[in-house]
Amino acid sequence: MHNNCVNAENVESDNHLWLQFWRDQRADFHQTVVNPLLIKFWSSLNLDYGSRVFVPLCGKSLDMIWLAQQGHEVIGVELSPVAVRAFFKENSFKPVKQRIGKFMLWKCGKISILCGDYFSLQKSDLGIFDTVYDRAALTALSENVRRLYVAQLKIIVLKNTKIFLLTIEDSIENVTENSTIEIDEEINALYSGDFEIDLAYMESVFETDLESPNSPANRADYKVYRLSCR
Ligand SMILES: C[S@@+](CC[C@H](N)C(=O)[O-])C[C@H]1O[C@@H](n2cnc3c(N)ncnc32)[C@H](O)[C@@H]1O
Repeated sequence: MHNNCVNAENVESDNHLWLQFWRDQRADFHQTVVNPLLIKFWSSLNLDYGSRVFVPLCGKSLDMIWLAQQGHEVIGVELSPVAVRAFFKENSFKPVKQRIGKFMLWKCGKISILCGDYFSLQKSDLGIFDTVYDRAALTALSENVRRLYVAQLKIIVLKNTKIFLLTIEDSIENVTENSTIEIDEEINALYSGDFEIDLAYMESVFETDLESPNSPANRADYKVYRLSCR
């Protein structure tokens, strides 16, 4: 990892870009189906019916609807009002809105989204939650901001909180039958001080660069991590 200094300027310029993405309708990270790894591995967390799940940087993810269908109360945080409005409109939900400090809370049934900056969140804004669902939140941020993201998460989680983390990691090595699956160095550096890290699953996908078909295929490792706060 590089040791670049983390400061508010990094966050502000990133925030500006995200807001612009949504305004320009360039949210190509949005999945039009529920994440298959969420469906496959979520039950392995053995959570209680009705327990609360925090979804940082939630976008307009359909995964929140799936989580609510499993009986969870879902609380997302999303910077862009364009994304939040789209989530409720596209799914024909009729939310009620309420200002809470620096955030606008949109709520319908089991799903609430706080619209505002994750880095301004206070513990009291979120209330108690048992689990964090992170898909394309940590990994969407620039390297400097990732450290700030995890530092903020450690402030707002309670002891015993679990994190269900999905990552896509680029790799140049070839997978062989004997390859062991490993926890990514940066994930280890960011979380291992406060969390037990369990790498539950990895799936490798090989992609050929269509512009240079003779070069070796790039490998992307899709990983499922389960983290438990000590
Ligand atoms: C790559 S997208 C992933 C969205 C969602 N997790 C999904 O799986 O579709 C990252 C999202 O984080 C939001 N975001 C970025 N920085 C944020 C911040 N500081 N506070 C709240 N949301 C933020 C962006 O607007 C964007 O919707």
